[in-house]
Amino acid sequence: MHVSRVGISKLCFLLSLAFCAFLLLLIPGLQPSQRHGDLPQPRPHARTTGSRTGTASRRSGYTVAVPLKPPGKPHGSAASRGRAGEPENSDANGSVRPVGNPLSTRKQNGPLIRDSYHYPTGPTGPHPRDQLNLRDIFIAVKTTRKYHKSRVDLLFQTWVSRAKEQTFIFTDGEDKELRNKAGDNIINTNCSAAHTRQALCCKMSVEYDKFIESQKKWFCHVDDDNYVILPSLLLLLSSYSHTQDVYLGRPSLDHPIEAAERVKSDGSTSVKFWFATGGAGFCISRGLALKMSPWASLGNFISTAEKIRLPDDCTIGYIIEALLEVPMTHTQLFHSHLENLQRLPTETVLRQVTLSYGGYENRRNVVSIGGGFSLAEDPSRFKTVHCLLYPESTFGDGQARSELTLSIQAGCV
Ligand SMILES: *[C@@H]1O[C@H](CO)[C@@H](O)[C@H](O)[C@H]1NC(C)=O
Ligand SMILES: *[C@@H]1O[C@H](CO)[C@@H](O)[C@H](O)[C@H]1NC(C)=O
Repeated sequence: MHVSRVGISKLCFLLSLAFCAFLLLLIPGLQPSQRHGDLPQPRPHARTTGSRTGTASRRSGYTVAVPLKPPGKPHGSAASRGRAGEPENSDANGSVRPVGNPLSTRKQNGPLIRDSYHYPTGPTGPHPRDQLNLRDIFIAVKTTRKYHKSRVDLLFQTWVSRAKEQTFIFTDGEDKELRNKAGDNIINTNCSAAHTRQALCCKMSVEYDKFIESQKKWFCHVDDDNYVILPSLLLLLSSYSHTQDVYLGRPSLDHPIEAAERVKSDGSTSVKFWFATGGAGFCISRGLALKMSPWASLGNFISTAEKIRLPDDCTIGYIIEALLEVPMTHTQLFHSHLENLQRLPTETVLRQVTLSYGGYENRRNVVSIGGGFSLAEDPSRFKTVHCLLYPESTFGDGQARSELTLSIQAGCV
């Protein structure tokens, strides 16, 4: 009994000795893997719901990026810096330090998928590229004369007020009131106001030319029913280089579109390509936009669209994927009114890049977000989203402060 207990103690002692020796052996083995961890790895800093790449998930619903840190800053510090909602590691000018590789993955022969941000890792982050500033992004808003009051005004009251210099409104009719507000940033395309393929391509063609002229680094196109979450947009584009070929957007279908090839050949063969749905917004790097020039600049866009007989957003996809053979990067951070916006989880709404609204006539289709304004006061939810991003905002017409607008001017707090 006594002997056996001593035996057990000895055995235990020997075992712990062996265990310690084993641990010692492990320590040098750990070091390479730690170093490995310091390398710039395109790791998802995000939790995603749903499958990342499966076409089934794209068909049935959302792949929603949920970054660990929201892009917004806490109220106090943001307001005191006068730049609410800017990402945490942005500097005083609103620049974000970009990082290494974009978080894109590619399935065998499949599309590039981008469903989360790559958060910058700080001033000493790996592979620092040029800093991206909001001023480097050219934002084109496509509208038509009849929506100046009902749609464009709301954009000026909300997100456009935070990006006035770089946002351009492409419309089809003169409007003195709007011109007073936005000056040279209102561009009368002189295109037809009809909602036809020709009219839409005419506007896209002017958008493209103005972007090239602007010398800005990124071209982003949105519609007049989109809210652009500027901090998210800046963060997303910061993980790419504008000198590379980047075409970012949301596919409107779960499969590539097929069209007769009438540009490179006589139309007897067909091509398959992805395109980003224009209603959700999309972005193109300057490097890629310049390569599009033979088919897009100075009216060439209209003739390209005529040849393939497809709408403006499809034509963009055609030029990029089919003619230039640059794959589109798919993102689920852009949203159009064609989706069921209510299905977007509330806690992820402010981390998206674009939002939309629709369905006033029959069933309301808006993001589910509370606070700020009631549904009656803010049917699109854009003011509510704006208040959550920029709590110090007031709503009112800065230029035309009539008695009436002053009396109905509302603030977020
Ligand atoms: C911010 O912008 C100002 C004026 O454009 C410039 O002088 C300054 O160097 C910028 N600061 C940083 C940190 O980029
Ligand atoms: C539209 O027409 C006006 C008046 O002729 C002209 O000043 C303007 O430059 C035209 N817009 C574009 C985009 O060509």
